[in-house]
Amino acid sequence: MDSFPTIAVISILVLFLANNIQTEAQLSPTFYDATCPQALDTIRTSIRRAVSRERRMAASLIRLHFHDCFVQGCDGSILLDETPTIQSEKTARPNNNSTRGFEVIEAAKREVEKICPGVVSCADILSVAARDASVAVGGPTWQVKLGRRDSITASRSAAESNLPSPFANLRDLISNFKNKGLSARDMVALSGEDTITSRI
Ligand code: HEM
Ligand SMILES: *[C@@H]1O[C@H](CO)[C@@H](O)[C@H](O)[C@H]1NC(C)=O
Ligand SMILES: *[C@@H]1O[C@H](CO)[C@@H](O)[C@H](O)[C@H]1NC(C)=O
Repeated sequence: MDSFPTIAVISILVLFLANNIQTEAQLSPTFYDATCPQALDTIRTSIRRAVSRERRMAASLIRLHFHDCFVQGCDGSILLDETPTIQSEKTARPNNNSTRGFEVIEAAKREVEKICPGVVSCADILSVAARDASVAVGGPTWQVKLGRRDSITASRSAAESNLPSPFANLRDLISNFKNKGLSARDMVALSGEDTITSRI
């Protein structure tokens, strides 16, 4: 379990990241308690199943959450496919050929739809999935505030400019995270993500 401290730091910072980037107030951990009491259990079961099939999926889901939150906030915009009016973020440079786990989020959404159609947002499912993925590989848990609305727009250009480029220099990386309310210190801690990947 020597990966535990690293996963702990990353997970706490992912929570911090999500809470910092949300712009809408009034999110609450009990948002679905009355309207879909089984929502969280259903998502957890679905994510655990996916991670037990492929352990790397835990890392992929945490990254998907990060790449969602950095573009228009944690609104599920990364999940939208290309349409005549939507320029999908999926093919933006930081995402194309490297973001994974869309089908896992879709499967969780399908399970949730079976019990409470039209109640739980995809944006919330993705945020909860990142937490459940951390737990599934022996990392810590954290509380996820709920009640995000799904975006009906996406932005490939924002995905290309807001997400950090692998070629960025330190100054650009720091300003990139600062734009999202995250300090250089947060960035260094969050970047421990490579460590979980190599240890998973
Ligand atoms: C500091 C700037 C960052 C840069 C430039 C960066 C870039 C990258 C790149 C190039 C990859 C490899 C993608 C591939 O498979 O081709 C990657 C993977 C990954 N990144 Fe980052 N990243 C950064 C920060 C973060 C942060 C803050 C997180 C999470 C909180 C994160 C989570 C991950 C994870 C979990 C993977 C592995 C995903 C998988 O195996 O499916 N990264 N990152
Ligand atoms: C994705 O892969 C394709 C084919 O392998 C390549 O042509 C394309 O440039 C890649 N896209 C990105 C953004 O790396
Ligand atoms: C994205 O990846 C696909 C499949 O690998 C490739 O065909 C396409 O050209 C890539 N798109 C961009 C914008 O790089």
